[in-house]
Amino acid sequence: MKHLPLFFDLAGRRVVVVGRGAAAERRADLARSAGAAVYQLESVSTADLKGTAAVFVATGDLESDTEAQRAAKVASVPVNVADRPQLSDFILPAIVDRDEVVVAISTGGASPTLATLLRGRIEAMLPGRFGAVARLAQTFRAQANALLEPRQRRAFWRRLIEGPAGRLALRGDEAGARRIALTELDAARRAHKPLGIAHIVGAGPGDPDLLTLKAAQLLQQADAILHDALVPEAILGRARREAELVCVGKRKGRPSWAQADIEAELISRVRAGQTVVRLKAGDPFVFGRGAEEVDALQAAGLPVTVVPGITAALGCAASAGISLTDRRVASAVTLLSGHAAHDAAGGHTRVIYMAASEAASVRDRLLADGVDPATPVAIIENGTRPDERISTGRLADLARLAVRHVGGPSLIIVGDVAARAAVQPESLVQVS
Ligand SMILES: C[S@@+](CC[C@H](N)C(=O)[O-])C[C@H]1O[C@@H](n2cnc3c(N)ncnc32)[C@H](O)[C@@H]1O
Repeated sequence: MKHLPLFFDLAGRRVVVVGRGAAAERRADLARSAGAAVYQLESVSTADLKGTAAVFVATGDLESDTEAQRAAKVASVPVNVADRPQLSDFILPAIVDRDEVVVAISTGGASPTLATLLRGRIEAMLPGRFGAVARLAQTFRAQANALLEPRQRRAFWRRLIEGPAGRLALRGDEAGARRIALTELDAARRAHKPLGIAHIVGAGPGDPDLLTLKAAQLLQQADAILHDALVPEAILGRARREAELVCVGKRKGRPSWAQADIEAELISRVRAGQTVVRLKAGDPFVFGRGAEEVDALQAAGLPVTVVPGITAALGCAASAGISLTDRRVASAVTLLSGHAAHDAAGGHTRVIYMAASEAASVRDRLLADGVDPATPVAIIENGTRPDERISTGRLADLARLAVRHVGGPSLIIVGDVAARAAVQPESLVQVS
C-alpha cells in the first residue's frame, strides 16, 4: 500500500487553496463540502498558513506550485499539489459520496483513469440514498450496543441494513424505517428469531448487463437464490459468493419442482430468517407465476417485494432492432402465451400508454369492442417513483378516475388482473 487512507475531519477548520483554475475550484468545493472554512489565494506565504489544517495547491505552474508547497512545508501544514504527487504529503482519491457513507479509491497516482472506472462501478453498486441507511444505523447504535449481546448484534445490524428497514430508508421513508428498526431491536432483545424477506426478482432476458441495479444489489444480499433454469450462469455469477443457489426450474433429466413446493420453500426460508431472492427469467409478472408466489408469501404474513426485469419481448425486440410500436406501422403490442396452461384463465390484459388525458375515448373504444363495463381498471401515475399514485375502479368509471391523474406520466391497465392493485396491502408489497 503506497498511501494510508485516512478520513480528515475539516469541519470548521481553515483550509487554504492556492490557484484560481478549474482544479483549484474543484478542491475548494470539495473542502467546503466537508465543512471547511476555505480561503482561496493566488499565492501564499508562510504567514498566510497560520492555523491552517491543510493546503491544496493548483496554480497549474510548476514554479508557483513549488513556491506554495515550500511555504506549506515551512509552516508544517500538510499539502496536496494537483497532478504533482512528488510534491504532495497526501493525494486526493476518487470519491463516491453517499452522505455519511464515503468510498475513497486510490491507485497511488498510477492511473487516475482506473480509479475513475472503479468509481463508476462502485457508484452503480451503491444506491443513491445509501447515506440514509448509515443514518439509520447511527440512530440505533448506542441502543443496540447497550441492549444486545455481541452475538445478537451482528444479526440485528445485518437485518437493519439489508432488510425491510434498510429498504424503506433507501426508498426515502426514514421515519418508517426507524419504526421497523425499533420493532426489530425489540424482537432481537427478546431473542425472537427475526423473519427474513423474499424478493421476487426479474433477471431480464439473459445478458447480465441487462439486470436492473436493484436486482444486482439483491443478488449481493441474498442468503439463498431460488432460480429458474432459464437464468444463465453469467447472471448467477453476480450473486454473493456465500449465497446458496437452488435451481427450481425445469431441467432435462431431472425432476422439476412443483409450484406449490417452490412456494413452500420460499415460506420456510423466510420464516427461518433468510433473505431469499426468487430469480425469474425476464419479468416475474409476465408469464412468470410471480403473482402466485407473492400471494403465497402474503397469505403466510411474510414480507415480500417485487423487482421488475426486462421481459423477453423487450430484450429480444431491442436485440433484433425491432421497435414494437414503430408508429409508422403499429399502434399496439400483444404478449401471448403459445403454451396456454390448461388451468390459466383466458382473460385479456390491456396496458394503455398515453391514455389518461384520453380516458373517455379509450373507454368508449373498449366498450364498442365489447369489453364488459365492469372490467377492473387501474391507473398508475409516476409508477415506481416516490410520488407513485394508483387509482382503481371499473372501466365504466375510467374517465372519472383519470381526472386525478393529469400531473405525471401515467398508464392504464384494463383487465381482471387490475383488481389486484387494490388488494395488495402496501405494508407487505412494495412493487419496486
Ligand atoms: C415461462 S416464460 C417466462 C417469461 C419471462 N417471465 C419474461 O418476462 O420474459 C419462458 C419463455 O420466455 C421466452 N424467453 C425468455 N428468455 C428469452 C430469451 N432470452 N430469448 C428469447 N425468448 C426468451 C421464451 O419464449 C421462453 O419459453
